[in-house]
Amino acid sequence: MKNRIPVGIAGLGAYAPEKVLSNHDLEKLVDTSDEWIYQRTGIRERRIAGPDEDSGSMGAIAAMRALDDAGVAPEEVELILCATTTPDLPFPTNACHIQHKIGAKRAGGFDINSACSGFVFAFNTAVQFVQSGTYRNVLVVGTEKLSTIVNYEDRNTCVIFGDGAGAMLLRPLEDAGRGEVLSTSISTDGGPEQDSVLMVAAGGSRMPATAETVALRQHTMIMGGNKVYRFAVSTFAKLVKESLEPYGYEQLGRIVPHQVNQRIVEAACERLDMPVDMVFSNIHKYGNTAAASVPVAFTEAYREDMLPKGKLVVSAAFGAGLSWGHFLVRW
Ligand code: UT7
Repeated sequence: MKNRIPVGIAGLGAYAPEKVLSNHDLEKLVDTSDEWIYQRTGIRERRIAGPDEDSGSMGAIAAMRALDDAGVAPEEVELILCATTTPDLPFPTNACHIQHKIGAKRAGGFDINSACSGFVFAFNTAVQFVQSGTYRNVLVVGTEKLSTIVNYEDRNTCVIFGDGAGAMLLRPLEDAGRGEVLSTSISTDGGPEQDSVLMVAAGGSRMPATAETVALRQHTMIMGGNKVYRFAVSTFAKLVKESLEPYGYEQLGRIVPHQVNQRIVEAACERLDMPVDMVFSNIHKYGNTAAASVPVAFTEAYREDMLPKGKLVVSAAFGAGLSWGHFLVRW
């Protein structure tokens, strides 16, 4: 990133709704067991947003916490990028709702949808605005109310997903003082076959919502779990390996990936010949929260003192699209 303004992470914030949905609760809804879910995924419980909460309101709480952490007032924010698969409305954007809720009177904003990779895609976009000198205070939010698109009669998917929100404030490194962004990438590989790996079939322009699509639950997620699993293991390992290549593994302090499945983490670490405890994980508490998972995990890793000062921290995300990406920072 030569001749560009160095970018840093000035603030971090997260929000988890109060209601806990445990594996034992799910045993009452579908034919599953705590043992099966924990062994296959590492998940014990996930959070579910209340009826008065939406992805915008949760995102606004996480955003305010990130601003507090950075010591920056909402009026100073110039751009809000919101990554979400579950916006409050088809339009206007969640960025508008968050802007209003936090009182960021001077900010423009827009949403980015790249499912589980969404936060990394928004982070990558935010970096361009800061390093070009266009803006000095860019808020990146990842927020999901996935419980609204989960079919709680489908054991293949309902055990995996949860709700939550996380946020980061990006600033020039000289203002942020930490978290120097060293590299970031985004990639997509689409097509009908890729759609079928993980998608919501109805509710868009291809199949607008009708009484029939609702009755058939076509507005909820369908997933080819095995295909996602294989793609996630190889992509996770590739992103970590390639991003660390210019620096060397010995400089690595922590991997804070999309919280997808503990078995995927273990399989990827085996490929990388890396100890599993190098990877920060909170999937046991929250499940997979798609675009929220990276900033929630990053915030918790930071609060729990799991990001060694001066060391490299890499985040890798992958999901529907297919889509994948990373960012690498020196903490
Ligand atoms: O961010 C991307 C989002 N996607 C993901 O995070 C998913 C990634 N994939 C996975 O995490 C795993 O593929 C799953 C956890 C979803 C599934 O694990 P798996 O080891 O790949 O299981 P499977 O799909 O091969 O299914 C094995 C068996 C099947 O039964 P039969 O056909 O062998 O009799 C499933 O019907 O397990 C059954 N099964 C379940 N049993 C109990 C599937 N879901 C459940 C369940 N409880 N919840």
